[in-house]
Amino acid sequence: STPLRLGIAGLGTVGIGVVKIVQTHAALLARRAGRPVEIVAVSANSRSKNRGADISAYGWEDDPVQLARREDVDVVVELIGGENGVAKALVETALKSGKDVVTANKALLAKHGTALARLAEEKGRSLRFEAAVAGGIPVIKALTEGLAGNQIKRVMGVMNGTCNYILTRMESAGLPYDAVFEEARKLGYLEADPNLDVGGIDAGHKLSLLSAIAFGTEVDFDNVVLQGIGSVSTADIRLARDMGYSIKLLGVAQMTGRGLEQRMTPCLVPETHPLGQLQGGTNMVVIEGDMVGQIVLRGAGAGEGPTASAVMGDVIDIARGFRLPVFGQPAADLVAAPPAAVSAG
Ligand code: HSE
Repeated sequence: STPLRLGIAGLGTVGIGVVKIVQTHAALLARRAGRPVEIVAVSANSRSKNRGADISAYGWEDDPVQLARREDVDVVVELIGGENGVAKALVETALKSGKDVVTANKALLAKHGTALARLAEEKGRSLRFEAAVAGGIPVIKALTEGLAGNQIKRVMGVMNGTCNYILTRMESAGLPYDAVFEEARKLGYLEADPNLDVGGIDAGHKLSLLSAIAFGTEVDFDNVVLQGIGSVSTADIRLARDMGYSIKLLGVAQMTGRGLEQRMTPCLVPETHPLGQLQGGTNMVVIEGDMVGQIVLRGAGAGEGPTASAVMGDVIDIARGFRLPVFGQPAADLVAAPPAAVSAG
């Protein structure tokens, strides 16, 4: 049967992870996709750089946007990152050229997600982004597929592994914030702009995407109440522990009488709750649905294998022809609406 042909833009950690899955799991992917999955072209900063995977058999584009214009590409996989610039141009060009898009770019979607999803819908294409939220945890698929019969009451979670690493290390080693921040930097955990992590912005981006999906709203990052972890002291952590709590950078999204409430702030979480027990660079998402009750999902929120795993799940969905519109109406329109109107979005 006709192969599904991928063009991959960005060969960093995640891009190389995707290349490795396509190369090592060819038979398994073909079975699940119902057709072979092939990489036809890639684009990155340098073709010759040693990345631990052989990319010599693929077509090459110096300009990632050219991937979106290639006749032989069906799906553009955007793994460049950044909320503007080339990633945005690439995704727009791809959708306008009739390609499906898979991206891990939470910053781009938090800012332009509603417009890009609308463009995808207009063009009859798919825009999928499981990897943008909580890395390897298939939380978007849980909400849109497995929990589709529920009205979602609340979504909560720890969605930035770096912050969770810093906070749990401050707690377990009794070290001050600055020392642990330095440790995280040396370990390569921090984003190029560390404020995206410790300022809560990266986690806020993820929460805004998750709440849009959970509640059928537009993406509304501007209304996420944000506070980073920079002001959390070792004394705060010790006092919290004396009372039976851990301090977590916790995201909470819920629909209230006043509208969609979204917060990403340091919170006291009971040590007995799964969220309070989450150690190190892990992510956890807790979903509460009216029928299912509480679901706890836990796993790696970053890294080569986990993030590439989420990207490939989206690729397989596209091969199977899934084309769901993901975002709904402005949150303000939903405030007083009865449940039936909410789920109609
Ligand atoms: N900096 C992010 C984190 C990476 O620490 O979770 C994945 O988005």
